[in-house]
Amino acid sequence: MKLSVIGCGYLGAVHAAAMASIGHDVVGIDVNERKIEALSAGQAPFFEPGLPELLTQGVAAGNLRFTTDMSEAHGADVHFVGVGTPQQKDGYAADLTYVNAAIDGLLPYLRPGDIVAGKSTVPVGTAAELAPRVEDAGATLVWNPEFLREGWAVQDTIDPDRLVVGVAGLSAGSGTQEESGSGSQDVSSRFARSTTEREDPGQRAAEILRRVYHPAVAKGTPFLVTDLATAELVKVAANAFLATKISFINAMAEIAEVTGADVTQLADAIGHDVRIGRRFLGAGIGFGGGCLPKDIRAFAARAEELGRSESVSFLREVDAINLRRRERAVTLVVDAVQGDIVGKKVTVLGAAFKPHSDDIRDSPALDAAVRLRGLGADVTVTDPEAIDNARRQHPQLNYVDDRDEALRGADVVLLVTEWDEYRRQLSPEHAASLTAGRLVVDGRNCLDASAWRAAGWQYFGMGRP
Ligand code: UDX
Repeated sequence: MKLSVIGCGYLGAVHAAAMASIGHDVVGIDVNERKIEALSAGQAPFFEPGLPELLTQGVAAGNLRFTTDMSEAHGADVHFVGVGTPQQKDGYAADLTYVNAAIDGLLPYLRPGDIVAGKSTVPVGTAAELAPRVEDAGATLVWNPEFLREGWAVQDTIDPDRLVVGVAGLSAGSGTQEESGSGSQDVSSRFARSTTEREDPGQRAAEILRRVYHPAVAKGTPFLVTDLATAELVKVAANAFLATKISFINAMAEIAEVTGADVTQLADAIGHDVRIGRRFLGAGIGFGGGCLPKDIRAFAARAEELGRSESVSFLREVDAINLRRRERAVTLVVDAVQGDIVGKKVTVLGAAFKPHSDDIRDSPALDAAVRLRGLGADVTVTDPEAIDNARRQHPQLNYVDDRDEALRGADVVLLVTEWDEYRRQLSPEHAASLTAGRLVVDGRNCLDASAWRAAGWQYFGMGRP
């Protein structure tokens, strides 16, 4: 199929490359010329494992190209909109400038029957507001939220754990969940089979999306057709749940800190209950990135607009707990040097908001580094991938590429991004041979505390004795 993808950031660039890799003819469109140049040359403008290979393949095969010219969207059957929805500068709500600009820019090039599939994370109600503009052009708007995790984005796009398509005009309760791929039925024959499907633009659009995602559909990935509002909510609800799970365990870490309990053992123990599960119970410096923090704030802001602020008022608490953990990591460093932080050399291991990413948006790691510098510490930051981005945002910090160079002479080590380079490949003995002090603060509870202690280190975890 012919597809266009508007917006070539973390979401759109991966989506375009992944769709080309499963056989579609894809054009990626973005206003940023530098990004388009890099992508056209088969280079990923950000770090995402597996993406450069897909870009090179697609560009070489000729079924993947990138442009700044919106008119090249003309002729595509499905137009994915994957532009950013950042937090507004003066509030918590999502800034929809880019979504509106993408839709307005696309409208002149739509043909009757085209599908516009929103992927950006938007406040519930946005799609219903946009739909009439798209329908005036004879096209159909659907909302098809994206659940990819940075660092695993290629895999999550090609082989997602579920597909959700929100369509207009679906009467209440008539959404479908279908375990696809049951039997050998060909999706295109199914598409043409039913008269109702042909007549109803929403159902027709859902069928077309099924064809877009044919490999995942064929292997039985759950494919849920909902109304527009539900599809929008699925995304924010999922992120709100994940953020709440992390803040829950971090709240337990706060209790553990005053009782002498160990939050990692607590997480293991409650995580064995299959109703709870161990994933996303990693206590530490908390969540960051371009999604969870801004999505829970935008959700709370939207709920307030809808007169339902009390329904998600707990999200303010989730946010507050999360931000307190950043402060706690800083306090641990200050306490480790008995309050005498001015002039102390602190090496911060990690700048990205999580490993396998160079994304520093709302990164707890950099937040802690900046606060420590503000307290007078001599801070050096290292990271395998995120230094260039970090330097642009916080030029006042010292950056050292090489991990061992960064560690040399440190009084305190603060681990804040659990890259393998730090949690697996750095032995406490080797680290001790480089640093001046033997104080380590493990902001991700990912080091073997007893091994570090045995090597002569004073180890400080988050929510651990
Ligand atoms: C998230 C969602 O997982 C994804 O489905 C959605 O599409 C976008 O937002 P992402 O931001 O890439 O993805 O990162 P994720 O892996 O969810 O981690 C978010 C943050 O939570 C990171 O800072 C991570 O370090 C932190 N985290 C995660 C914890 O602090 N503890 C955990 O147990 C898990």
